[in-house]
Amino acid sequence: MNPPGLDNLLTCLRFPSVSTDSLRRDDTRACAEWLLGKVREMGLTGELRETPGHPVLLAKNKHIAGRRTVLLYGHYDVQPAEPLNEWKSPAFEPTIRDGRIYCRGATDNKGQLMAHMQGLAETLEKHADLPVNLIILFEGEEEIGSPNLKPFLEKYRDELKCDMVAISDTGMVAPGVGTFTYGLRGIACAQAWVRGPTIDLHSGIFGGAVANPVTAVARLTATLHHADGKVAVEGFYDGVRDIADWERQAWAALGDGDAEMLELTGSPALFGEPGYTERERRWARPTVEVNGIGGGYQGEGSKTVIGREAFVKLSCRLVPDQNPDVILKKVEAHLRAHVPPGVRLEFVPGHTGMPYIMDPHSPLGTAAQRALRQVFGENVALIREGGSIPIVQAFKDVLGVDTLLLGLALPDCQAHAPNENFPIENFVAGVRLNQALLAELA
Ligand code: BES
Ligand code: ZN
Repeated sequence: MNPPGLDNLLTCLRFPSVSTDSLRRDDTRACAEWLLGKVREMGLTGELRETPGHPVLLAKNKHIAGRRTVLLYGHYDVQPAEPLNEWKSPAFEPTIRDGRIYCRGATDNKGQLMAHMQGLAETLEKHADLPVNLIILFEGEEEIGSPNLKPFLEKYRDELKCDMVAISDTGMVAPGVGTFTYGLRGIACAQAWVRGPTIDLHSGIFGGAVANPVTAVARLTATLHHADGKVAVEGFYDGVRDIADWERQAWAALGDGDAEMLELTGSPALFGEPGYTERERRWARPTVEVNGIGGGYQGEGSKTVIGREAFVKLSCRLVPDQNPDVILKKVEAHLRAHVPPGVRLEFVPGHTGMPYIMDPHSPLGTAAQRALRQVFGENVALIREGGSIPIVQAFKDVLGVDTLLLGLALPDCQAHAPNENFPIENFVAGVRLNQALLAELA
């Protein structure tokens, strides 16, 4: 027997709401409309608010003066499912194997979002009310950097006034271990183009006489890091906050993470900034990552050509108190200073999001931990995460409130990758967590 609400999750998963894909625009909206139907079914008032991109679902219960107001955020958009041939079952047909639901979005973020929905539905059915004033804000552009949400918060600031934000879109350190995330890395994306000749050239006739953009982009990319893994961009580490002693201890107490990292990634060895453990590197140190590099001939066999241009796609993960706009300027300056001879550089800044940190020992943080204890038992892990949820710091800046990140994703959930999955037991735990959290926050 499926637990209550699971069928709703499966239906939600069948919408291929890939926000980055313009061909999936209607599917993405259809998912928002379906969610709107569900919130109305529970007795909440809701609507879709338009943005220049995908719509925002906004819903609320009847607000009563004197009660706490909780804004529940989630995202109904998902990452592209490609490469499709690496999925063991179809990417947008949820399939249950060994107690886990396999589907794009299963963990990130539909499984976690629908657990909240089911928690609300059950509370409303039983008590015809919630213990708090609730604002639901589900967006469809998180996976593309939430480009329209900060203006949305500014526009509807008064309507969105709340005491705190709650989100389930982060991880658990291990199955069954309640995990409170009190920090997220920020992000700053960019693409650099390296262009040489104005046309593709025969590499025999012209090779040796002009710079090859592919070679140039490879050299340029390699200048971003020192051989030991430290970022070589001047001033990159300016303002980076030290890791607190209690954090080092708390993270070390989670056990040796190296073996798990090797297992999860399949890499032959770990590698990263010297002087830090793997968790410290992922949760509290900034990086520059190369997400893609290309140029020249990519087809079968060989082709003797000098392509006229090449590119590299970069994303920097940032920690307090780095600023994404400042970082992009520094990265651009670095690239300009290191362009090899014979080519031109075009630097195209991309989307950004601020890093976030709150005090997990604050009254709000301890309330969240109590809720986790009710569902998962005494032992609660306090962590930061390496991933980004760009809007979280904007909640602080625009609405003036902190965000409680109580995630349900497992380390091997394969978010953003083929065979993304979410255990049914995490869905069930998430339903209880929603109820425990709202009760604690009330
Ligand atoms: N759910 C993730 C964020 C996340 C993942 C937090 C793992 C903590 C642990 C979210 O959907 C996501 O993938 N965010 C993107 C944001 C980017 C596209 C601006 C990310 O981190 O890459
Ligand atoms: Zn994601």
